Amino acid sequence: MIEARGLARTFSTRNGAVEAVRGVDLAVAPGEIVGFLGPNGAGKSTTLRMLTTLLAPTAGTATVAGHDLRADAAGVRRRIGYVGQAGGTDPGVPVGEELALQAALYGVGDPGARIAGLCARLDLEGLRERPAGSLSGGQRRRLDIALGLVHGPPLVFLDEPTTGLDPQSRGNLWEHIRRMRGEDGTTVFLTTHYLDEADALCDRILIIDHGRIVAEGTPEELKRRVSGDVVTLELADAAQGAARARDALAANPAVREAAVTGAQLRLTVQDGDQALMGLVRDLDAAGVELTALRMARPTLDDVFLTVTGRSLRDAA
Ligand SMILES: Nc1ncnc2c1ncn2[C@@H]1O[C@H](COP(=O)(O)OP(=O)(O)OP(=O)(O)O)[C@@H](O)[C@H]1O
Ligand SMILES: [Mg+2]
Repeated sequence: MIEARGLARTFSTRNGAVEAVRGVDLAVAPGEIVGFLGPNGAGKSTTLRMLTTLLAPTAGTATVAGHDLRADAAGVRRRIGYVGQAGGTDPGVPVGEELALQAALYGVGDPGARIAGLCARLDLEGLRERPAGSLSGGQRRRLDIALGLVHGPPLVFLDEPTTGLDPQSRGNLWEHIRRMRGEDGTTVFLTTHYLDEADALCDRILIIDHGRIVAEGTPEELKRRVSGDVVTLELADAAQGAARARDALAANPAVREAAVTGAQLRLTVQDGDQALMGLVRDLDAAGVELTALRMARPTLDDVFLTVTGRSLRDAA
């Protein structure tokens, strides 16, 4: 659905050139939900604006929804939906009119039915008479998305669809996005700097930093790249337990790293699910008494830290 090679964009500013995007390759299959994840200024919006024909690339080529980005921008535009980071609603215009105008612009057949369907699906039904400016942040974001979908595009670009929404509205919007793919087979390419969002919503994630893709994979694959699962053991006897536990686990092939702080033994293990019983048996046999045991999978936060060397939260 999307094929891009070496996509790049440099901006010239008074203070010199800003290399916003430095050669991005990507491939998105029909029906995929792909997340473009990165901190502020990473190049997410710039990439999206190039893929949606709003910004000319400095270098590179792309085919989007079956049309060549440079040779047939109009063809691309007809086949995609785009919801910008800032949204683009006119605050004075009622929701229903805004949708009707957008439908007319795209020459949607039977716009009444299409709009009614969208409003039902995005919970906008009761709001059709209201001016867009009077909507809450979450309602306005749903309107933005409805506007991007009015012409039923097979491919939609969403730039930070849930930024600024409360957790419940974010959850609702995720549900809408999933349904859009489930019911219409819509391909979704979205940007986010929420790791949990990318994790919950996306089939595949591309991590972009400083204009380059630094990691790519399913959420599971990316998490697996980060040194396995973390098992934390609380020892009943900190003084004796730590050394004994370390000896007991030295030969366990699943354990990659062991670190002791106070009465806590923190292990990095390959395949925690599989390894856990063996760990407990080894410790038991060595007479190490445990008071608690926890296992955690690495989060996408950890992934980001590993591949970029900095925390996403710090960067943002
Ligand atoms: N029109 C422009 N002129 C000059 N620099 C620009 C322009 N647009 C973007 N940039 C710069 O390009 C870089 C990438 O910006 P971009 O908007 O793509 O980031 P982003 O990943 O979408 O960030 P955010 O999470 O803050 O939305 C930033 O350094 C930004 O300042
Ligand atoms: Mg942006």
